[in-house]
Order: sequence, then C-alpha cells, then structure tokens
Amino acid sequence: MTPYLLIRGGRPLRGEIRVDGMKNAALPILFALILVRDEVTLEDLPPVTDIETTLQILCKMGAETKRLSPNAIRIQTKNVDPDAVPLSLTSTLRGSSYLLGAGLGRFGRIATGIPGGCNFGTRPLDQHFRLLESMGATIECENGILRTTAPRGLHSATVRLDFPSVGATVNGILAAALAEGTTVIANAAREPHIVDLANFLNACGAEISGAGSPCVTIRGVSKLHGTRYRVVPDMIEAGTYLCAACATGGKLRLSNLCPDHLGAVVSPLRKMGAEIVVSEKHLTVERSGNLYGTVLETAPYPGFPTDLQPQFAPLLCLSRGGGRIYERVWKSRFQYTAELCRMGGTVLLADDFADFPGGDRLQGACVRATDLRGGAALLIAGLCAEGETELGEIHHIERGYPDFLKKLTDVGADISKKDEKLTKS
Ligand code: UD1
Repeated sequence: MTPYLLIRGGRPLRGEIRVDGMKNAALPILFALILVRDEVTLEDLPPVTDIETTLQILCKMGAETKRLSPNAIRIQTKNVDPDAVPLSLTSTLRGSSYLLGAGLGRFGRIATGIPGGCNFGTRPLDQHFRLLESMGATIECENGILRTTAPRGLHSATVRLDFPSVGATVNGILAAALAEGTTVIANAAREPHIVDLANFLNACGAEISGAGSPCVTIRGVSKLHGTRYRVVPDMIEAGTYLCAACATGGKLRLSNLCPDHLGAVVSPLRKMGAEIVVSEKHLTVERSGNLYGTVLETAPYPGFPTDLQPQFAPLLCLSRGGGRIYERVWKSRFQYTAELCRMGGTVLLADDFADFPGGDRLQGACVRATDLRGGAALLIAGLCAEGETELGEIHHIERGYPDFLKKLTDVGADISKKDEKLTKS
C-alpha cells in the first residue's frame, strides 16, 4: 500500500513556518565530508529522505555517525573505503555524482552508480567529466557504473564551463580542494548552495574564493580539519511556502531564511498581487486581493529558479489574465502539468514553455506527484482547490520537504497522510 495525502482545499494558510536547512546545500556538504577525516558536526540538516539516503551511503562506506537531534549529526569519515560504495543506493540520487569529485580528491579513484533523481529527461554529466578530466582524471561508464581514477594524481586546471552547472561546479570544488596547485572554474554556478559548500570547506581549512561569482578559485591545501557548521536556509522550501500562502489567499510569516536569496521569487509574487514584507531573517507574505498573471523564465541563479517554476503553476491557473513559464534549464520539466489539468487547470504546452490562460477553477481530484517540485505544485493546487484531493506518489515530496505535513497543518491546512488505497482512482 503506498501512502497518499488527503487534502481538503480552500483553507487560507495563516501563521508562521520555520524554514529548514537547504537540501541542495546539505548534499554536497555531506559528500565533502569524505575529504575531511576529522569529526564534523552539522546543524540544520533537513530531515528528508535524500539526506537519509546520503547518510546511508556514507555509513555503508565506513563513516561513523552520531545523531545529536533530528536536525544535527556528528560524523567522521576517517575510515571510509572507496571500494564499499553501495552502488544501487547511489543510483537513486542525483547528488551521488558528487562522489566523483570527493572520491578523486581523497583516494584518487572511486566507482559509483549512474546518478538518479528527478526524471527531467536526459541529465548529462559531460561538464562534470570535462572538468575532472582536465584535472588528470579518467572516467569510464560501463554496466551502469561510473569509474573514475587519476593515475598520476590530480592537478590544478583552469576550466570554463559551457553552462553554469551546479553539479559540475560542486564536483570541481570537491576535486580541487586537496589537489596540488590552484584550480579556476570560470562560468561557474553562483547558487547559494555553491557558496555554502565553499563556506563549509573554508571552515575546514580550504582556500576557496569567488564562490557566488562566475569565477571560483580553489587553492589546494594538504589537509582539512573538523568543524561545526550550520547549513544555509532553504530558499526553495521558503519559496514553496510563499506560493502556498498566495495560492490560498492566506498570510504567512517565514522565519530562518536568507531574504537575499529570494529576490527572483519575491518580485514576480508582488507583481501577481502578493504583499511581501522583508526583514533581516524573516519574511511576511499576504494575498488578500486578486491574483494576476505574469511571465516567468527559469535561469541559473540569480535568475528565477527552475526548482520553483512548478509551484507557480497553480497560481497562474487561478490568475486573472494568465501567463507563461519558459523553462530554460530542464526542457522536460512540465510533466506535472498533466496532473494539474486533472484538477481543472488549463495548460498549453509548447517546446520549452507552458501557457496558462488563467481564470481556472481548481477542483479536488486524484493525482500523483511526478517528481519532487512537481509534487509540491500539486500539493499547493490541492490546498487551494475546491473539495478533496488525493495526492499519490508522495515519496517524491518526502525527498525534499522536511516535516511538511506538520508545518502545513500547524498553519491551518486540512491535510492528512493515508495508508489505504486511493479511493478516487
Ligand atoms: C539543476 C539546477 C539546480 C536544481 C537541480 C534540480 C540550475 C542551474 N541548476 O542542478 O538549481 O536544484 O537542477 O532541479 O538551475 N548540463 C549539461 N551538462 C552537464 C551538466 C549540466 O549539459 O554536465 C545542463 C543540463 O542539461 C541542464 C543544465 O545544464 O540543462 C543544468 O544542469 P545542472 O545545474 O548541472 O543540474 P543540477 O546540478 O542537477
């Protein structure tokens, strides 16, 4: 029996939600631990299944962990073994590609399953490979396994990425942190997760500068040491709750966030009719009047994040005048719209954009999460729809949203997790 969510829609969300640490920052930091043999304490690690899977991978490789609280862990990787990677587990996670950079940096070799994660069609790794190969690594892919080795050791390199890939930038930083010489990554990703990884490694003694700019410089050091580190708040979790508040016509105060990271999200929401008040670590969002349409175009940070485009779709369905979403990072990221249409949404798909004529009445239906953020979009649609929604395949949502059931019910959502068969299917 696979669990599903029963959502009774039409209740405005009101209250306060604390944002957790960012999954997409925590994942590279966890793999970076392989480079740091000493003990590290991580705080604000979001309790989601992607993080649990990563911890299992590290533990199976020989890491020793002690859970200090649901969100904090002490971990030591002195005894990790590159030959003990649980290959099938690595294939369930996109972030497992970070084993390449971390394994090369610590052992000069590693093998991992071809990374999994959300299905947005082909998710190439050519930029990762080009960067690592320019540092002296060879990479082979056979029978679903990626093997990398640096026969003569890793050396520094200067590489310009064709696209500011988050994953390739992470792998380059991980490989270069302990490599000889100074590595320069040009056209690097500028996402807050890159800055957080660099901050973490620098707290361990690395010498990384320029993170957050298009040019990251990594001067290799001979050794890293342990530290205590708090993961940066999750801008995507925050943005998702902003959309949920606007969709339901509610008022939410979000705490523990970095408002600076949300510029590209706050501005379209204001255009759509939300009132947003930003202070140093808080943000209050309210939508009491009409919802208006807008045009969104995903782009690498600091542009509008691809990880938030699905959550805006229910808003565009409900809006006056409608709008359009251009998806410039993952062309096939509109699978969730078929489910949204089952709820009464109108979506017209083209090659790399989706049109939303607007003025829809969303109604409860039986739908399934297609991927992590698409699942969040359907959850938001259920919260503002008339009647009951049954949302299946919620394991996708559990990969990235900590305690979302409790967080949402605490602010007035009528939502519960059921273990029986979907009744409307
Ligand atoms: C991307 C997003 C990230 C998001 C994640 C999951 C961007 C820039 N990155 O990160 O914010 O959290 O998806 O939704 O928004 N590419 C190549 N070759 C490569 C690597 C990437 O062509 O070797 C292309 C991809 O096809 C894609 C784009 O670059 O069009 C973004 O890839 P990348 O940033 O590497 O993906 P993720 O790290 O998964």
